[in-house]
Amino acid sequence: MSSTPAFDMVLFGATGDLAMRKLLPALFEAHCEGALHADGRVIALGRALPGRQQYLEQVEREARPHTRDRAGQAQWADFLQRVECLALDAESDADFVALAAALGAPQPQRATVCYLATPPRLFAPICARLAAVGLNHAGVRVVLEKPLGHDLESSEAIHAEVGQYFAENQIYRIDHYLGKESVQNLMAIRFGNVLFEPLWRREWIDHVQITIAEELGVEARGAFYDRTGALRDMLQNHLLQLLCMVAMEPPATLDADAIRDEKLKVLKALRPIGESEVDGRTVRGQYRAGAVAGRPVPGYRQEAHVDPESRTETFVAVRAEVANWRWSGVPFFLRSGKRMQESLAEIVVQFRGVPLALFGVPSSAQSANRLVIRLQPDERISLHFLVKEPGDAMRVRASSLDLDVQSASRGRRAGAYERLLLDVLRGRLGLFMRRDELVAAWKWVEPILERWQLEGSPPKVYTAGTWGPAASSALLSRDGASWHEES
Ligand code: BG6
Repeated sequence: MSSTPAFDMVLFGATGDLAMRKLLPALFEAHCEGALHADGRVIALGRALPGRQQYLEQVEREARPHTRDRAGQAQWADFLQRVECLALDAESDADFVALAAALGAPQPQRATVCYLATPPRLFAPICARLAAVGLNHAGVRVVLEKPLGHDLESSEAIHAEVGQYFAENQIYRIDHYLGKESVQNLMAIRFGNVLFEPLWRREWIDHVQITIAEELGVEARGAFYDRTGALRDMLQNHLLQLLCMVAMEPPATLDADAIRDEKLKVLKALRPIGESEVDGRTVRGQYRAGAVAGRPVPGYRQEAHVDPESRTETFVAVRAEVANWRWSGVPFFLRSGKRMQESLAEIVVQFRGVPLALFGVPSSAQSANRLVIRLQPDERISLHFLVKEPGDAMRVRASSLDLDVQSASRGRRAGAYERLLLDVLRGRLGLFMRRDELVAAWKWVEPILERWQLEGSPPKVYTAGTWGPAASSALLSRDGASWHEES
């Protein structure tokens, strides 16, 4: 793997959960792979940052358990040498002067990355102060973490403010799903094979299902989650990005903007869900106590830092449509939930039925042909079809061709954050969201958010450890379809 340019990775929020669980472990992995330039520093910032020694002890305690511990103590110690510490209050001008001094004068070949792993209300003040001390020169990239706003207006406010100080090509908006190897593979499957292209359209596809299900509940994030909910946390970003990967037209090149232009066209083609249609095209659920993997778990309203009367959804399902020539009339069913029966992310492409049923299988709109792309926990592709049952009679049964993508490829699979951090250091924008993509996504979900805010549409309760409320099955059955695990 080629090495990054020399760099300074400036980590705002360096004592936080994201830095400890994802960013530092990802940087460590990249370090072990030899992907980081020898002259690369991680500058940890925080308001109440302890001294370096104490900070490194915290990193040892909180970040190291999240690394794949194949590397020995020597490599870990070597990595820690990259880490420097600076106490910085995001609201203190003087602290930014000190930061600029620590970074020194801009050097043409050196990347300066400011990773804002902070609450979004700090994005604008941090960017303004970076600019005030000259830390918005062309060599500086700024990385923004989710949530990028609460609705269209707040998201636009963030982008407008950040946009005052940084050019669009300096802004890296993270959706970590785009960094997943399996999501990258979707592009390869679609655009590297001629096989699917003729079938990848309304004439042959009955519907598409995209699921991201988690066994986990809200863990220690009750306060954040209760303000957010599944629609903002998962659908507005991850699920819509996956939908774009399935529905987009082939880009002319793999350039960042060529790919993002195609994704944007999909988002803009999403048929708007009018407020009067929201109840019929969406399902909103909240889990009550149940059991997940044989272990009893409390209900959402009993979780720490969650309002006992909360109406926040922990499950969302939506029937979307992409109104263009390729997809008109094909439903895209999207769903995501916490405390589901299984943790998995998958895309199911259900093909239409054969024109004439010759084999006694009742003719229906759907055929046995279904392509299942499992993104996680394992990466698999299965193509389902009918084969003849051996024997005298001409009977058929369902069978599948299965490809275990993981064991079929030998290379090491980088984690999503590792991949994305390396891309930022190398200045590759393709896997990051552009401002107009976010605007289009917020515009589409906003009528749903507005309808859900009204009294009289509380979430439907489902038992933890199931696949969500019964209404979720009904959403598909109206189109003669059923979720993958039900059929
Ligand atoms: C995050 C959400 O963006 O994605 C979390 O905020 C969710 O609530 C997580 O658990 C899921 O990501 P992954 O990579 O574990 O599927």
